[in-house]
Amino acid sequence: MNLDKKLTFYKGRRVLVTGDTGFKGSWLSLWLAELGAEVAGVALPPERSEDHYNVAEIGAMIQHYDQDIRDAEGTERIIAEFQPEIVFHLAAQALVRLSYRQPRETFETNLMGSVNLLEAVRKVDSVRAVIYVTSDKCYRNKEWEWGYRENDELGGRDPYSASKAAAELVLTAYRESFFRATGRIGAASVRAGNVIGGGDWSLDRIFPDCIRSLANGKPIRLRNPRAVRPWQHVLEPLSGYLLLGRRLFEEPQRWSEAWNFGPSNEGQRTVEELAREVIRSWGAGSIEIEPEPNAPHEEKRLFLNCDKAWGRLEWRPRWDFATAVRKAVEWYRATREGESAGEFSRRQIQQYMGGEK
Ligand SMILES: NC(=O)c1ccc[n+]([C@@H]2O[C@H](COP(=O)([O-])OP(=O)(O)OC[C@H]3O[C@@H](n4cnc5c(N)ncnc54)[C@H](O)[C@@H]3O)[C@@H](O)[C@H]2O)c1
Repeated sequence: MNLDKKLTFYKGRRVLVTGDTGFKGSWLSLWLAELGAEVAGVALPPERSEDHYNVAEIGAMIQHYDQDIRDAEGTERIIAEFQPEIVFHLAAQALVRLSYRQPRETFETNLMGSVNLLEAVRKVDSVRAVIYVTSDKCYRNKEWEWGYRENDELGGRDPYSASKAAAELVLTAYRESFFRATGRIGAASVRAGNVIGGGDWSLDRIFPDCIRSLANGKPIRLRNPRAVRPWQHVLEPLSGYLLLGRRLFEEPQRWSEAWNFGPSNEGQRTVEELAREVIRSWGAGSIEIEPEPNAPHEEKRLFLNCDKAWGRLEWRPRWDFATAVRKAVEWYRATREGESAGEFSRRQIQQYMGGEK
C-alpha cells in the first residue's frame, strides 16, 4: 500500500504534538494537518521569527498551547481538555552543546517534562498511542563501526545524551507499570538520526550553520570535519513515527517497544561530506577547518541499525543523502527568493508521499 493510503488513518484523529513550535514538530504538525487530523500543540513559543513554525504559519492550522512541560499541572490541564487519541512527544532541550551550558534545564525538560507528559496521559481515557521521541544519542557510544540496535546498551556522556537515555528508562517504567495493564495504551520510543530540512535555524547545528554561512557569502567553518553522523531528511523519521502511530493505535501491545529510524548506510557521512554536498546543491561556497581545542566532547561516530523498522514496519528511507541535502537546500533557496514557505513545505510533503525524488 502507498504511504499516502496508509496515512489516511489520521483523517479526523485527535493528535497532540509536543514541541510543535520546533523544527521536527512543526513539520509533523503540518503533515498531520494535511492528512486531516485535528492537531493540538504544546510547547514554548518559537524562538525566532524565521523558524519553520512561523514562516509556514503552522499556528493557523492547529490549536497551539504555549505551555512549559516542566509545569505538571498546566500540561495535565491541556491534555484533559483536548483529550487526544494519539500523542507525539517531541518537546525537549534538543541541543548537545547547550546541554553542557544548561545541564539542569536539559534534565528538567527532557526527563521530568517527559514524566509530566506521561502522567497527564495516564489520567485521561482518550489516549491510545504515544510516540515518544528520544534520539540516536541515547545509546552508550562505543565508537563502533556498525549501527546500534534497539536492544543495545543505553548511555550518554554529555547531559543531552544522558537525558535521552534516562527518558528511555522513564518510558519503559510507565509502559510496564501502567500502560500495559490498561491494554489500551500503546507506547513506543523512537530514535532517529541527525535531521536536515527547511526552516531549522538552531544554533550549533551543522546544517543551519552551513546555510547561514552560504547566505552571508562566508566560508563554512567546521570544527569537527571527520565526525560521522546518520544524516536524513526530516520527513524520513516523521514518516516512521506516523506509520508507527497507526500501528500502535491498532494493536497497542504488539508495537510497544523501541524503534530506530535512521538513514541507509550511504547516509552515514562525515560533517565535511555534508558541508561539501550542501555547497554543491547551493552552487557556491567554501569550507574552512577550524578545530576548537577546548570544545566539549562530541562523539566521533554514530550509526543506527534500522533492520527492525525495515522488516516489521516495512518502513524505508525514500530520499538518499544527495536528495535529502538537495531538498533541504531547495527549501532555503526557494523561500529566500520569495516562495511561500507553507506552500513549499506542503509540496515537499506531497513529493515525499508520492515517492518523487
Ligand atoms: N534535530 C535532530 O537532528 C534530532 C535528532 C535526534 C532526536 N531529536 C529529537 O527530536 C525532538 C525534536 O527536535 P527538534 O530538532 O525539532 O528540536 P527543536 O529545538 O527545534 O524543538 C524543540 C521543541 O521543544 C519545545 N520545548 C523545549 N523546552 C520545552 C519546555 N520546557 N516545555 C515545552 N516545550 C519545550 C520547544 O518549544 C520546541 O517546540 C527532540 O526531542 C530532539 O531531542 C532531534
